[in-house]
Amino acid sequence: MSSLLVDNIGELVTNGIGADPLGIRRKAAVLVEEDRVAWVGPSAYAPAAEHRIDVGGAAVLPGFVDSHAHLVFAGDRAAEFAARMAGEPYTGGGIRTTVGATRAATDDELRTTVRRLRGEALRQGTTTMEIKSGYGLNVADEARSLRIAAETSSETTFLGAHVVPAEYADRPDDYVGLVCGPMLAAAAPYAKWIDVFCERGAFDVDHARAILACGQAAGLGVRLHANQLGPGPGVQLGVELGAASVDHCTHLSDADVDALASNRFDCMCHEGAHTTTVATLLPGAEFSTRSPYPDARRLLDAGVTVALATDCNPGSSYTSSMPFCIALAVREMRMTPAEAVWAATAGGARALRRDDIGVLTPGARADLVVLDAPSYLHLAYRPGVPLIRQVIRNGVPQ
Ligand code: NIG
Ligand code: FE
Repeated sequence: MSSLLVDNIGELVTNGIGADPLGIRRKAAVLVEEDRVAWVGPSAYAPAAEHRIDVGGAAVLPGFVDSHAHLVFAGDRAAEFAARMAGEPYTGGGIRTTVGATRAATDDELRTTVRRLRGEALRQGTTTMEIKSGYGLNVADEARSLRIAAETSSETTFLGAHVVPAEYADRPDDYVGLVCGPMLAAAAPYAKWIDVFCERGAFDVDHARAILACGQAAGLGVRLHANQLGPGPGVQLGVELGAASVDHCTHLSDADVDALASNRFDCMCHEGAHTTTVATLLPGAEFSTRSPYPDARRLLDAGVTVALATDCNPGSSYTSSMPFCIALAVREMRMTPAEAVWAATAGGARALRRDDIGVLTPGARADLVVLDAPSYLHLAYRPGVPLIRQVIRNGVPQ
């Protein structure tokens, strides 16, 4: 069995050992056997291993879990971004532009983009990345988007209900029928999750409920885009359906926060309790659309489990960087650096209902990030600086 000792760690974030939320250990070592963490403890007691990496007192943390990304697309919308920075509002209308480009692209062009962005994210410490479809919006292009996504990630999400495509503009009921019928049938073999953009101008609550119910019946887990551009019923629909995550949560009423907080339960987990439905915040979208940020403090103070993700897509958030999102969450959303790092690792894992990632405890997947810094604090303290010195994924140094 191949073994690797990551040794001389000045600050180890485990998200699982000890009383503090990040489960910090100092002067620590991690033993990796094959693709798993086999042992965590003081450097002084570290077992021997076939290979050893001395990180020289640096900080080590679990690889980032980016639970929300749209990587299968063609073209970009830089001009739309420039227009926004000159004062135009973001409406989501540009999605159809990307749908046109995506349908016209070859499989290899789409594959190249997915791999480029996945590589970019990996170099910035992301060891798990969810990938959505949603720019095909017909049976063949949604199916191929997911087929290509599944080559790169096991966390794939069918987002046929991103917007109603132009050819169905005056018959949205027919489009919902297509999504629930032949499109879901073609997509389901490659998808783990189903998602709907529940928003004025996209899908209303009845359509969203119908589509998510079809997906559940086909064995897919539920997540949704909710309350991004304005207040609405999306968050409460997510809670009603037991969604793993409701994403964006930018415009929340007290009833939305109460609904999320009310499904909190005790668990045998490090946090002691968490909510069934995670609120996934995507500050890259507010940054890139120059919008007010979601109120993370209100959610955290109510006991809601919060995740951070990039929302990487060519329209509202063209970043693949979890460190950037952590820095935004701390500076703009008043999350503490510890809360933000937890949300970008263990929180993302909760949002994907995974207990084998986002933590560095024995048995967990050996996904580790070595920082070019002595503490995780530097992720927010030194924004825009390439602090990811080394990534180990599935036990393999990248
Ligand atoms: O999560 N809101 C819907 N979907 C994406 C944006 C997609 C786009 O603008 O191309 C989002 O922000
Ligand atoms: Fe999104």
